Amino acid sequence: MKSVTSFQEMKTRGEKITMLTAYDYPTARAVEKAGADLILVGDSLGMVVLGYENTLQVTMDDIIHHTKAVRRGAKDTFVISDMPYRSFHLDLRTTKENAFRLIIEAGANAVKLEGGSESRLEAIRAIVDCEIPVVAHLGLTPQSVNKFGGYKVQGKSDAASEQLSTMAKRIEEAGAFMVVLEGIPEALGRKISQELTIPTIGIGAGRHTDGQVLVFHDLLGFSDFKPKFVELYENLNTTIPKALETWCNDVREKRFPERKQVYFPEE
Ligand code: KIV
Repeated sequence: MKSVTSFQEMKTRGEKITMLTAYDYPTARAVEKAGADLILVGDSLGMVVLGYENTLQVTMDDIIHHTKAVRRGAKDTFVISDMPYRSFHLDLRTTKENAFRLIIEAGANAVKLEGGSESRLEAIRAIVDCEIPVVAHLGLTPQSVNKFGGYKVQGKSDAASEQLSTMAKRIEEAGAFMVVLEGIPEALGRKISQELTIPTIGIGAGRHTDGQVLVFHDLLGFSDFKPKFVELYENLNTTIPKALETWCNDVREKRFPERKQVYFPEE
């Protein structure tokens, strides 16, 4: 299994890092089989798997339940669990306890948390001090949807760009070993990636980050979400219902089951 040191070395060698989300046993198995470097059990789980309107309703129990399944499906891949909304906002004791649960109960190798404010930096320091590797997440952080007034590209003005690049440096100083950059202009993705020594992983952050992450269901066309930064490598929203419809029709027309699918067929 790759480790925090492997990802650092990959950045140094200029090798792109691949991260994909997975939420259950079969998706984890598929991602591991594909050879992705890291798996993220993201709180996008709430939207793509649980049908919530946004990620804010995802709970610690949701993430633990799904991380356990992912761990069983991908025993040899580095797994990061997202810290859900409210799990790292109250006080440092609760924050550390929640991070411990993701590592000890769920089997994750690291945790990820959104934001770069002073209190987020304190949370990062506290978790790292518990020997838990932390991935930070800056830019269009979905847990800030109400504050941002929607899912809007961040860091567009000079001032906003400067603020994000300063936050990124502070995050590195706080001890994060990696940072996800989401929904920012390409030039800012490049600047932060050049300024930091830790790897940057982009999603809608252009071509120059040290690696890329995509949501499993978006990449495979199995969600209702098709932002500019997603390329459909499959279209499961079409192929899966079509296969299921064919099965329903086969049952109705008595084409399924056939003799070969029957135990001790009568003739
Ligand atoms: O929850 C998630 O899947 C994420 C990725 C989009 C980076 O945070």
